[in-house]
Amino acid sequence: MPSVPLKADHLVAEAPLVSVANVQKTYFTRQSPIHAVASASVDVARGEFVSLLGPSGCGKSTLLMMIAGLEKPTAGVITLAGAAVAAPRRDIGVIFQDATLLPWKSTLENVLFPIRILKLPLDKYRDRAHELLKMVGLAGFENKKPGELSGGMRQRVAICRALIHDPEILLMDEPFSALDAITRDQMNVALSEILEAYRKTVIFVTHSIREAAFLSDRVVVMGGRPSTIILDKKMPFARPRRFEIEETQEFAQVCRELRLTIEAAHGQRQGHGQGHGQGHGLGGARADGRQQPVKASAAGASIIE
Ligand SMILES: Nc1ncnc2c1ncn2[C@@H]1O[C@H](COP(=O)(O)OP(=O)(O)O)[C@@H](O)[C@H]1O
Ligand SMILES: [Mg+2]
Repeated sequence: MPSVPLKADHLVAEAPLVSVANVQKTYFTRQSPIHAVASASVDVARGEFVSLLGPSGCGKSTLLMMIAGLEKPTAGVITLAGAAVAAPRRDIGVIFQDATLLPWKSTLENVLFPIRILKLPLDKYRDRAHELLKMVGLAGFENKKPGELSGGMRQRVAICRALIHDPEILLMDEPFSALDAITRDQMNVALSEILEAYRKTVIFVTHSIREAAFLSDRVVVMGGRPSTIILDKKMPFARPRRFEIEETQEFAQVCRELRLTIEAAHGQRQGHGQGHGQGHGLGGARADGRQQPVKASAAGASIIE
């Protein structure tokens, strides 16, 4: 067997699909510069589900938008499949907190909207749209308008819309944050099932520890002021995942470690004064927050369980 090509194949297979190297982002505002991300390096392999976890204001959306090509890094390099990200790309689907559906269009038309924009043949994608809607439990809702759907249903439509043109990468920015807790749990299970059927590379922003632990292969914790990556942890749970894993000791242990990491970074921030003066996030923290690591956590204002 020729050893050289085999080795080369192996290396290609292992090259990260998304690579973030020493990325920094400063927003230059009229007042003072805002250091949104001080330094971030993270690789995401093809097919991997990675969450960016951290309190509000720690730069998660900024990092995600840079990966999407919607913001430019101040320093550092982001590559997708080896090529630098310079602009928004077709092989990326983005899902935001708000479903942003077109209110005058039906569910089916909303799902097919990217196909229109990309000028792809609609007929070829109609079956896929129906299949996706069925997968997320929306068979029979094809002709409803967004105003006739619940928040959870609208977000399901947004997921179908992001998947319709079969992008390789899904970037999701707190897609379930606006939903009630029960719907959110259901959406987490639904997303897991979707990804079992349609394998994608996902970068998922959340400030929910449980959500990150449940969904991810790896959880990347961002924190500190200015913000850096303070932990990159593999989740030890087998797939497919069912909701019951959240009741296990192992799950509680993992969540605890994530929480303590965030709290430790927060304590550190206390010593550094006001940072760039942004009001949101971990306000009202106490130096002794770690005494009560669960409900009364210092991060309690912005980290939900
Ligand atoms: N377009 C912008 N201009 C100026 N500051 C911004 C802009 N976007 C975000 N920021 C600031 O950068 C920091 C990180 O924000 P963001 O990436 O939205 O954090 P997160 O998503 O973790 O809540 C915050 O202090 C925020 O106010
Ligand atoms: Mg955000």
